[in-house]
Amino acid sequence: MNQSVDFQAWANGPRAQSGYVPNPTDSWEQAGGAPPRKSVDDAFEDSLTMFSMHRRLLADRARTTCFQRAIEGVVRPGDSVVDLGAGSGILGLFACRAGARQVVAIDRGPFEPLVRGLYAENGFADRLVWIGKDSLEVELDQRVDVLLAEILGNFAVEEAMLCYFLDARRRFLKPGGRLMPEKVRLFVAPTRTDAPALPETRGPLAGSARNAMRETCWAVDVAPSDLLGEPVLLSELDLARAQPGHRVAGKAVLRIAADAAGDAASVAGIAGWFEADLGDGIVLSTAPWEPATHWRQVLFPLPEARSLAPGSEVVFSLRGLQLEANTVWSWSAVTPAEGERWRCGNPARTQLPGERRLRLTRAGEEELELLRRFGEGASFEELMSFLLERDPDHYASAYAAHRRVSAMLRRSVR
Ligand SMILES: C[S@@+](CC[C@H](N)C(=O)[O-])C[C@H]1O[C@@H](n2cnc3c(N)ncnc32)[C@H](O)[C@@H]1O
Repeated sequence: MNQSVDFQAWANGPRAQSGYVPNPTDSWEQAGGAPPRKSVDDAFEDSLTMFSMHRRLLADRARTTCFQRAIEGVVRPGDSVVDLGAGSGILGLFACRAGARQVVAIDRGPFEPLVRGLYAENGFADRLVWIGKDSLEVELDQRVDVLLAEILGNFAVEEAMLCYFLDARRRFLKPGGRLMPEKVRLFVAPTRTDAPALPETRGPLAGSARNAMRETCWAVDVAPSDLLGEPVLLSELDLARAQPGHRVAGKAVLRIAADAAGDAASVAGIAGWFEADLGDGIVLSTAPWEPATHWRQVLFPLPEARSLAPGSEVVFSLRGLQLEANTVWSWSAVTPAEGERWRCGNPARTQLPGERRLRLTRAGEEELELLRRFGEGASFEELMSFLLERDPDHYASAYAAHRRVSAMLRRSVR
């Protein structure tokens, strides 16, 4: 019964081959026409976007086969698995094929019929536990052996990957359990690839619009020949050890290559990409010279393109501010020889794809609840007991709860 699913064919459609996959975009795509005007039903519109996103992901053979090979090496017969951000369900399906006894597939999107159908067609219906919620709202009765997640953005961490992944590791994974990915490395190199040009704009806001274009981190395609120096490791994240609230930051000294002469050394910005250790020695890379994936490289533009002499250095620093739903970047570049320093990246202006309405984090919800109880007259001890009962994993001792309540009172109470 273990028939294979040809995910490439699935991605390329038409969906008729698997009747359980409703893909409302087919009609206009097949007709070669333009997408229909936006419907008033926002939820329906969102689901269209999400279904076409999953087609794109499945069609990304480099990505999907990399995960498949890693899962075959990491998941052992009898394992329980969380597939965080399950989407089409493909990673959990690979886990079942590797012998997983149970897969808890978590996704906030409307994919339940799709995922149930995929598992059923492959003979794994009884191994699936579907949870159609945001992972931050999920509670599990039992911890699992393996946590799988492909919630990587163009620069790995900008799809709030850290927030969700670290929360899931803390609450869903057994001590010593296996993670995929295990580590993420961020690389940078100087590039002549530039930010998209603003159409000729006049009027009082033109200058500020042009500046805004260069204060934004862009997703771009960087050709290997557009790199102007050796790549440098900016930051490595060990996802087994990083703690919630971890801030991504790094500094790299970039050197303009000796053969990048004349105009060729006109540096427009710093290109970035990632490598992820998926486990079992499998590394997924989005470097410009690797086979293309659906991910793109990112560009941190300089305020203006600069001609830099071969051998000169650019010291690049990057900081990510983790908002729950996203990471916003600010960066600076210094050329010690020229004595120039540019500060770039204005978080207020940084546009990120897929930004959703911001919501309180678990810590924020906790703070709100503590304040509400305090406002209703709860004593210090009652607030401590509330924390110890609500989150015994996090507040392993009365001392930890004591510190939390003290900090909250110091911040918020006169
Ligand atoms: C990049 S897709 C990956 C889908 C699938 N795992 C794959 O590899 O093809 C990420 C999915 O994660 C879901 N997702 C992201 N963060 C989530 C969260 N915190 N809770 C539930 N679903 C989440 C999104 O809805 C999306 O379907």
